[in-house]
Amino acid sequence: MERFHIEGPNRLSGEVRASGAKNAALPALAACLLAEGTVHLERVPKVRDIRTMCRLLEHLGAEVTESETGFELTPNGEGQPGEAPYELVKTMRASVLVLGPLLARRGRARVSLPGGCAIGVRPIDQHLAGLEALGAEVELEHGYVEVRARQLVGARFRFGVPTVTGTENLLMAAVLARGTTVLENCAREPEIADLAALLNAMGARISGAGEDRIEIEGVTSLGGARHRVIADRIEGGTYLIGAALTGGHVHLRDAEAADLAPLLEKLAENGVEVSKTDDGIEVRCTGPLKARDVITSPHPGFPTDLQAQYMALMTQARGTATVCETVFENRFQHVPELMRMGADIQIHGRVAKIQGQTPLSGANVMATDLRASACLVLAGLAAEGETVVHRIYHLDRGYEGMELKLQALGAKVERRS
Ligand code: UD1
Repeated sequence: MERFHIEGPNRLSGEVRASGAKNAALPALAACLLAEGTVHLERVPKVRDIRTMCRLLEHLGAEVTESETGFELTPNGEGQPGEAPYELVKTMRASVLVLGPLLARRGRARVSLPGGCAIGVRPIDQHLAGLEALGAEVELEHGYVEVRARQLVGARFRFGVPTVTGTENLLMAAVLARGTTVLENCAREPEIADLAALLNAMGARISGAGEDRIEIEGVTSLGGARHRVIADRIEGGTYLIGAALTGGHVHLRDAEAADLAPLLEKLAENGVEVSKTDDGIEVRCTGPLKARDVITSPHPGFPTDLQAQYMALMTQARGTATVCETVFENRFQHVPELMRMGADIQIHGRVAKIQGQTPLSGANVMATDLRASACLVLAGLAAEGETVVHRIYHLDRGYEGMELKLQALGAKVERRS
């Protein structure tokens, strides 16, 4: 198993380019199943979750080729029953994104239930209720969900909770439904607007994506298209927090400041200098960090996917901060590991109280999930001495070349087996 060795403390300084967003590229890849033709996707990050999705699409009969600028996908396999097996779904929950497009295009889909995961229970009841509203029959047996419909029919559906992949699944099902679908209480994450931009380029008629009410006028077929995936706001945000944490100065290029607004506003409150540039964001930290509380919530709130990294930042701020996690019920797994490095954190239910200005010292720590791993790497950059982050396969699911990007910013990080 591979691990990161970090020799701290480090000060991050320089330029780094944001990769394409993993969470936008995953639904975009799944959407290729809807096309009658080839879809070219640019700026797809080369990370493990993307390779898993490509394997799943190949399993479903698609032809996937990696080109210099991205990926080309042609969805052969019509007429074949579409099944996403347990072996693939268990390694990546987002495999559930093939449910909507397979149902719309092939009239049937069978997908292993994703079940629980490291950061909480994460059911898919909203995905299924939405598909039922469009006329699908849903059956659960032997750990699989099977959905069938000869022809989906547009309907009005209101999500009980705003769900990102749930909204994406419903979008991909409704584009080929007969008539108009209205989705309410939708998730508003930028990755949803990006998926709608791709689907519209393929010939779909979607309006309102990125807002809480989305209207989809069904069409009879979708063609190929070319699309450039948006920047990864979570990856980019991780490097910006790293700059703030290490008293550094980082220019994040190829990034969209508007998508990062909740983090940038918080960093400014922390006393960090934040400025927009022509193609990104510059963050400079010269003075002491001020502790500020955070409550995670769906977009445009503070993203749960940056909560762990923000907690690492608060260990070095002046004062005490609380972090309240409202999106997932079990997302403090980085806390015991941070405490092994010297952090002083108390957890009461969904709230963590972080005592600031605690010196961190390098230690052996275990990555437990994708964003928790990023938090431990950041803490390692701020800690005195050597930090070894074990099980970085979690990081490789979503961060493209993290050690290379950190090295370019002056960090002493090495990947070892
Ligand atoms: C997506 C992101 C993930 C991010 C999360 C929240 C992808 C591939 N992953 O995950 O990185 O952390 O959004 O921003 O885009 N829920 C239900 N019923 C459902 C669906 C969800 O109760 O049918 C609940 C979940 O348990 C959770 C909340 O809704 O408490 C939000 O989850 P959701 O937005 O669905 O997360 P994902 O789409 O899985």
